[in-house]
Amino acid sequence: SGTAGRRARFSGGPARAFLSSLAADEAIFEADLAVDRAHVVMLAERGIVDDAVAGEILAALADVEADGHGALPDGEDVHEAIETAVIDRIGPDGGRMHTARSRNDEVATCVRYRLRGDLLAAAEATLTLREALVDVASEHAETVMPGYTHLQPAQPTTVAHYLLSYEGGIARDTARLLDAYGRVNRSPLGAAAFAGTPFDIDRDRTAELLGFDGTVRNSMDAASARDFLAEASTACATLATTLSGVAEDLIVFSNKGFVELADAYASTSSIMPQKKNPDTLELTRGVAGDAIGEATGTLSLLKGLPRAYNRDLQRAHAGVFEIADDVREATEIAAGAVATADWNEAALADAAGDGFSTATGVADLLAMGGMPFRTAHEIVATAAERVGDDDAPAAAAAKVDEAARTVTGEALSAYVSRGEVETVLDPERSVASRDSAGGPAPDAVARDLEERRAALDAD
Ligand code: ARG
Repeated sequence: SGTAGRRARFSGGPARAFLSSLAADEAIFEADLAVDRAHVVMLAERGIVDDAVAGEILAALADVEADGHGALPDGEDVHEAIETAVIDRIGPDGGRMHTARSRNDEVATCVRYRLRGDLLAAAEATLTLREALVDVASEHAETVMPGYTHLQPAQPTTVAHYLLSYEGGIARDTARLLDAYGRVNRSPLGAAAFAGTPFDIDRDRTAELLGFDGTVRNSMDAASARDFLAEASTACATLATTLSGVAEDLIVFSNKGFVELADAYASTSSIMPQKKNPDTLELTRGVAGDAIGEATGTLSLLKGLPRAYNRDLQRAHAGVFEIADDVREATEIAAGAVATADWNEAALADAAGDGFSTATGVADLLAMGGMPFRTAHEIVATAAERVGDDDAPAAAAAKVDEAARTVTGEALSAYVSRGEVETVLDPERSVASRDSAGGPAPDAVARDLEERRAALDAD
């Protein structure tokens, strides 16, 4: 039979293990069974295979499935091994299963079938994380904290505003994953080796049976294209990169005593009894490295491949399944860490005004009083050299007044009262004043929270 012939061609020699993808194909074992079933049903419906033979093949496939991937006969890949297992059970008629198809369209279909589930799981995890970010944000709309640029205190903000900044990024990650899903979810089956088939098949039918949203039409495109792998791995890498920022921030914030991870998301030291380490976040940060590697590895593998099928493609997908799963897990872990972490409101309030972080508000105030912003900036910059973290608002305001005289020869009172300056020097008031759209003022955040919840529900 043809199978014996193929077996003979895959008979051994030093390249045998190198050629075989059977072990890695465990990831597409279930997918291949589904693809086989859909194809056989379609072949029977089109009268290409007898109903009786189709029934025998389907029964054999159920048996193969029950025995599991580990029980498959040796083979070059899962497609060949399953076909052999079917023939072993029902004889040469099992070989009719491979009518009007090739392993090229078969593997492309399996990879898409498997990957769409992985992408949906990752997208689902982003929803869990977004929910955690929004929930914790709504508890901390008034919790003032230092905001940083260049890792230096820049302007006070709130925990809610900070968390929503990541919710926005993760929401775009959801969209990227779902976008990738849409392009993955197309059936290449029926393309055969790349050049179609003389059999009167129904590609739309197998697409429908497998739950695909239509076909990849051009048969050469269908069998060859793996841009969906590049897209999926890049969407995962982008999500992982966003997560690595969340992780890095929370590592730094726990180091400063601003936030404490729940014990379940921390780890201890085997030697230093006092340690509580943010290991889950460090691993989350680490996953981004692997994800970026997978995305660049995928593009490198695909670069310059000629049409139509080349065996390089056998190495293109297993890593994408793995990274999608790792990134999904990291996203769920980040969600749990965020949901259960304890923000130290007192420490945050204490640090919120450090480094004269309310200085921009003073310059804004002077400019609102009619002074050119650049002059105001110069005055406050001069004051910044004199203001210390322990200065009370009154003392700091006095130093701003002094600086105004140094820079312009005029007293501040020409523009604003000393009391107004003192007010904006208070971190909480400073935050409350910045109520522009998307700003950190509790009012502005309350409006955004509503929108973010609605967007989350819609996703
Ligand atoms: N295991 C192969 C893969 O993953 C299946 C396709 C083999 N086709 C071929 N023409 N050698 O790409």
